[in-house]
Amino acid sequence: MKDNVYITTAIPYVNGVPHIGHAMDYCLADVCARYHKMLGQSVRFQAGTDEHGNKIYLKAKEKNIPVQEYVDENAAKFQDFIHTLGVSYTDFIRTTDPEHEKRCQEIWRKLSAHIYLAKYEGWYCTGCERFVTEKECTENHGICPDHQKAYERLEEENYYFRISDFKERICKAIETDEMLILPDFRKKEMLKLLEESPDVSISRPKAQLTWGVPVPGDDTQVMYVWLDALANYITVLGYPDKDISDYWPALAQFVGKDILRFHAIIWPAMLIGLGLPLPKTLVSHGMVLANGQKMSKSIGNVVDPMEVLEKHGLDAFRYFFLRHIDTFADSDFTWDKFEEAYNNELANDLGNLVQRLATLAAKNHITADEKKNDLPLEYRELMDKYEFSKAFDFVWARVQGINRKIDEEKPWSLAKDGKKTELEECMTGLMSELTDAARMLSPFIPSTAEKILAIFAGEVVPPETPLFPKQ
Ligand code: MSP
Repeated sequence: MKDNVYITTAIPYVNGVPHIGHAMDYCLADVCARYHKMLGQSVRFQAGTDEHGNKIYLKAKEKNIPVQEYVDENAAKFQDFIHTLGVSYTDFIRTTDPEHEKRCQEIWRKLSAHIYLAKYEGWYCTGCERFVTEKECTENHGICPDHQKAYERLEEENYYFRISDFKERICKAIETDEMLILPDFRKKEMLKLLEESPDVSISRPKAQLTWGVPVPGDDTQVMYVWLDALANYITVLGYPDKDISDYWPALAQFVGKDILRFHAIIWPAMLIGLGLPLPKTLVSHGMVLANGQKMSKSIGNVVDPMEVLEKHGLDAFRYFFLRHIDTFADSDFTWDKFEEAYNNELANDLGNLVQRLATLAAKNHITADEKKNDLPLEYRELMDKYEFSKAFDFVWARVQGINRKIDEEKPWSLAKDGKKTELEECMTGLMSELTDAARMLSPFIPSTAEKILAIFAGEVVPPETPLFPKQ
């Protein structure tokens, strides 16, 4: 097994404040990072903010704030959010960092054999920051289904990136899983998009948009926001100034399903053009919905993640997001579901279990065995396949199993009847199962796992207050 691993997250646009959906990339990548650290690997973990493009430029103008000031303000809110979520990133990048911009220009130069100037006549969606084909525009009746906004007609001179130079190679990488796409059914979707993909426009005239990285050698153009954004994954490691081979290729890149297409087509084309290896896995997660609907400010169903965090704490938030929001499918966030999971599962299944076992152990002076068992194979397999919500279910079934065993073996009766040896055997077995479960929980709910391990380290000290007080 390689000892160094690199994990990345999509960098959000800073045209607003973080919403609950943004937590998905961070939580999943954080589980992955913590799991690999637990396996003893050295992890680099990138996070950052995407600060160029039309969308941001227009929003700043609308608010009448200088663009740099606007992105500074919002980038800080994303950084706060990431900290609040307990994300264990090691590298943070802002695409307005001068270092990143300089490195993007060098990347452009290195790709110049695959770049040509031509006229673009077609459609653009500012919401997606994407050039849209005639066919797609017609199929959607001229309106972007994700943003409910009419596509904009563009007629301009742009630089193009010759995707056709790389199609065969990318296709092979997807088909052979050299660049594994998860979930599996998205593979076909990406292969079809790749086959239909024209060369992509990778610049905008400055006359239309000034907010971007200047194209080297042509001061009338700025880079298309996606080119500069995708490059972040390697510029943050120092490319091309530094040798990045200790960490690149990435083990896993986490992105939402809505932006997988950029990562499965333009991104590998850039990497192949630069002579770099492709990422090992692209993990595309589903969307967080509110009552089955996409969250949107206009519908008024956006859930503020800070409200959840303030009300119930970090591990309750991570618990819900990582277990009840499916890793790959779209899932609903509702306050009812959240509160039910909190009270029935976190407070009852786990919190009560810890309290009961610790109190019994302390009262009867039984110390926990500190032997660490190997992680179960089934857990390892699920984690290695990025099936995090299923791995979490697996651990939870163990937690519920311990609860059942307590009820069956009734250690309190053994204590009452003075059966010291049986009691000790029963309790050490239960405590060992619980600490095994806590280790498996540590990538998901790290501070709770740490508390449980501390309670049962040698002399057992029951917590003064329940881990998850009922609400
Ligand atoms: N800036 C680009 C990403 C560039 S990566 C080189 C972007 N930004 S975004 O702010 O729109 O989205 C950032 C991440 O949040 C994406 O992975 C996206 O899929 C995810 N999500 C945004 N809304 C979401 C939900 N409602 N649910 C789950 N994830 C969602 O795209």
